[in-house]
Amino acid sequence: MKKLRNEIWTGFSRVYTGKNIVKKRGRCLSYSDLDDIENVSVIVREGKIKAVLPTAKVGASLRKGLKKIDGQGAALMPGLIDSHTHLVFAGDRAGEFGQRCAGVTYAEIAQQGGGILTTVNATRLASQKMLLDLAVQRVKRAQSFGVTTLECKTGYGLDFETELKCLRVVDQVRKIFPEMTFVKTAMPHHAIPQGVSRETYFTESLQFLSRLHKESPFEAVDIFVDQCYFTHQDLKKLAAWAKRARVLLKVHADELVCTGSAGLGAKLGAVSVDHLLKISDPDIRQLAKSNTIATLLPGTALFLREPFAPARALLDAGARVALATDFNPGSCYSLNLPFMMHLGALHMRMNPAEVFAAVTINAAAALGQKNRGAILPGFIADFTALPVGDSGQASFEQVLYHMAW
Ligand code: NIG
Ligand code: FE
Repeated sequence: MKKLRNEIWTGFSRVYTGKNIVKKRGRCLSYSDLDDIENVSVIVREGKIKAVLPTAKVGASLRKGLKKIDGQGAALMPGLIDSHTHLVFAGDRAGEFGQRCAGVTYAEIAQQGGGILTTVNATRLASQKMLLDLAVQRVKRAQSFGVTTLECKTGYGLDFETELKCLRVVDQVRKIFPEMTFVKTAMPHHAIPQGVSRETYFTESLQFLSRLHKESPFEAVDIFVDQCYFTHQDLKKLAAWAKRARVLLKVHADELVCTGSAGLGAKLGAVSVDHLLKISDPDIRQLAKSNTIATLLPGTALFLREPFAPARALLDAGARVALATDFNPGSCYSLNLPFMMHLGALHMRMNPAEVFAAVTINAAAALGQKNRGAILPGFIADFTALPVGDSGQASFEQVLYHMAW
């Protein structure tokens, strides 16, 4: 949906404002916190929500100069936010997927020099134009799922030139889709290139990170802390760099094995720690005490044939949870955020209000985005219209109910 300037959004069967969820700051939500109001109109002035008020009260003077957007019975909610994607890469890994289906594990493929490094080779060889064409197709697909804000990580370059090429692709994508919001995350710390030691690569890449930031400024950095990838020590050094550069810190934490990186990320002030398939109980408590968002990626668990992250334990402890796709060629080849919401609701036992928060204000917080993720005065006018189902009704539950709509 477009973020248009001066408009009146009317004729929606219901509007989900997210008011109670904002009041509770996205934590400890019950189903009844998912509030919807009928017969209201949303007034947008200069891209911001000015008022949400009963349609009957919108007189001619209030409508003046506003373009009318007619919902035709759809439901309106804040724009869906996919807060974790690896958008820019070349090629796919269908061959390796075939091997995985025949019994070879993700880790075994990586140890044989495949996995992330397969995509690194393809991405290094691809021109910026080829990468842009692929990214544009992917953004269109995300849009078709109602996504209006997309985080885009690099991480398939692992050298200065290729990482910069990928950051520049996101800069171009931003210009092509002005109606959407993109958050750029640099992730040269995604894997260790062939033929170098982790120590050498980490030192080198920390140096080129500053140059990358100068050439194509990004909002966040991310690091994959896991067995055979980066260490706690590396995470601490990157956190110090991020603080100096005033860039947000994100962590791929406790995905393949439990390393305690979720808790450390929270202590270091990471804006989000993501994956958490193997998070420990003390780290769940640590996260619940912090403002760090626990970003869960159910598509990845499904694709890796791993148990889902312990969403219920995190939510019951009081953590703020987001849901995202983790779109990437190796561990989740899908941009279908509504499908992730379905998995969150049904298989991770998140109630509808928790799922709503997970793709609106909690996802916004995971990207350091203020005033986004609710339909309330002062918030950015950014909406997703939810289609009418077979019953003739449009609702948030319809989205959860449809399996891969
Ligand atoms: O988020 N964990 C690291 N990165 C990706 C997988 C990348 C790949 O296999 O290409 C993830 O799961
Ligand atoms: Fe990821």
